[in-house]
Amino acid sequence: MHEALFEQIHTIGLVPVVKIDDAGKAEGLAGALIAGGLPCAEVTFRTAAAEEAIKRICKAYPEMLVGAGTVTNLEYAKKAVDAGAKFLVSPGFNPSVVDWALEQGVPIVPGVCTPSDIEAGISRGLTTLKFFPAEVSGGVDMLRNFAGPFPNLSFMPTGGISTANLASYARQPNVLAVGGSWMVKADLIEAEDWQAITALSREAVRTLQGLEF
Ligand code: 3PG
Repeated sequence: MHEALFEQIHTIGLVPVVKIDDAGKAEGLAGALIAGGLPCAEVTFRTAAAEEAIKRICKAYPEMLVGAGTVTNLEYAKKAVDAGAKFLVSPGFNPSVVDWALEQGVPIVPGVCTPSDIEAGISRGLTTLKFFPAEVSGGVDMLRNFAGPFPNLSFMPTGGISTANLASYARQPNVLAVGGSWMVKADLIEAEDWQAITALSREAVRTLQGLEF
């Protein structure tokens, strides 16, 4: 399902998880990420600005892979898709959101952190799931353990990932891409410090490019 989109996310390797308070800063933020080699973002519905931010990014940078995050209910899912989100991400497995996305043909990456959650995803034919919150839920060791019973799945581990452990996650064969917010911290967006966001993105991209498998 949605192989082309997931292949693109895999090629980028890292999905910035954005919390933005002012949609007026969305274009600047997106430009900074693109300049840093990360033409991708999960804009979370943790702020009222998420919907407008997604709209603005889609308009300014139609090629950017903009998804919506923290899609914890149907209202957010519908708003996100109307705004132009190319994929939906949620912290947990919400059956009504997942089923709606499947009916609409919208790519969805629900959050899981147990084998039971994973089996809920498998029962709906999903093959890519977000592993959240990754670091406190067993991290890389947990992903290795998931690989045994669930060999055909890939994960987007998110939560507690930073420059220090990015490589160890990205090296796991069952990781599609890593997610994280360290390059798009709220204070950097607030200060419109696009140079810092580009520099942190570039540093992460260099780490990913330097990986030995
Ligand atoms: C998420 O929603 O995916 C997380 O809040 C991002 O986690 P991080 O801030 O630890 O990177």
